[in-house]
Amino acid sequence: MADPNFLKFDTLSLHAGQEVDPITGARAVPIYQTTSYVFKDADHAASLFNLETTGHIYSRLSNPTTAVLEERLASLEGGVGAICTASGHAAMHLAIVTLMSAGSHIVCSQSVYGGTYNFLKHTMPRFGIETTFVNPRDLDAFKDAIQDNTRLVISETLGNPGLEVTNIPALADIAHAADIPLLIDNTFATPYLCRPLDLGADLVMHSATKFLGGHGIAMGGALIDGGRFDWEKSGKFPTLTEPYEGYHGIRYEEEFGPLAFLMRARTEGIRDFGACISPTNSFQILQGVETLSVRMEKHVANARKVIEFLNTHDAVETVSYPELPTHPDHELAKELLPKGCVHFQFHCQRWPRSWQGVYRTVADFLSSGECGRCQKPRHSPCLDNTSANGCASPQECGHFRRNDPPVSGY
Ligand SMILES: Cc1ncc(COP(=O)(O)O)c(C=O)c1O
Repeated sequence: MADPNFLKFDTLSLHAGQEVDPITGARAVPIYQTTSYVFKDADHAASLFNLETTGHIYSRLSNPTTAVLEERLASLEGGVGAICTASGHAAMHLAIVTLMSAGSHIVCSQSVYGGTYNFLKHTMPRFGIETTFVNPRDLDAFKDAIQDNTRLVISETLGNPGLEVTNIPALADIAHAADIPLLIDNTFATPYLCRPLDLGADLVMHSATKFLGGHGIAMGGALIDGGRFDWEKSGKFPTLTEPYEGYHGIRYEEEFGPLAFLMRARTEGIRDFGACISPTNSFQILQGVETLSVRMEKHVANARKVIEFLNTHDAVETVSYPELPTHPDHELAKELLPKGCVHFQFHCQRWPRSWQGVYRTVADFLSSGECGRCQKPRHSPCLDNTSANGCASPQECGHFRRNDPPVSGY
């Protein structure tokens, strides 16, 4: 992997993980649209199946195009490796099934993406895994909710929809005091705005469908490991420390050290649950990653313009944005998200006319259901009668002026 201390973010986002094809010299990452790979001989095949040699066997397990995306995201997040998945949800599922079994317990922020909440609240209990949800601003609540069978603490860098900034260093300390890892969903910040592994988190996941892709044309997810959690010392993760009969009695921690989690996730979770990303989707997400810093900078600049508009508008009653001194996590945001934020929330008191006017004006500058997409949406999904969540799209706000006339309906 490229040395992240030497190469900077923009260089890594363009080149990390790619070795130019020695035969064709192709500059772009090729799409290896193949399901399977030719073995040199029977010994080569045997050593691949026995995990003695690295290489590709079957694209459900790994693929060369996807491997570039995995290495690129790992280097941007400062991890030892990554696994890309069919969607963000699949990445969350992969983390959970790799670490726990029926009877395990999770402590999770109550302010997470609705799909994550549903998955943990209603689906996982059917498989014997329960979750306690806590207020992400209440660190004592996380501590108090940890039980003997808790195996993971989960939060989002920025709560969705509450925009709470997770105190990652403090939460990591709480998780580590209980010998369990902290998983951060970094979808809303991306590694450009925040690198949770640098702040103490152990695992990071993404819905790559959002900002990493940025185009809204490809579903994908990523699970990245910082490689620092000591599974052996913790003693709470038999999937990583005890022999696994599904792979000839291998002990992952002993065999792979800091890559133990990712190897188990790949050779069991991806192999058996099968939520692999397609090579074409990996290629499409790579195109987005190449421009990540430029788009995120623009998202932030445009969000600030929208906030300026909302803040001075008569019909807008409250605006929530971590950069505003009125935001409860303003100081924390300055520390953990120094380059800014792209998400905000606002609320209008007078329904329906004032609300519609403000919303229609602002909606022209919001990203759509695939949060992080460049183009403006037709309708925002994050909307009720008088309030809206949004993130400013990178392209359209160049023309936005505070004194633009309100649209009809205002
Ligand atoms: C913060 C966050 N995490 C995870 C997901 C799930 O990702 P996907 O839709 O790629 O499965 C989403 C989807 O909106 C999300 O916003």
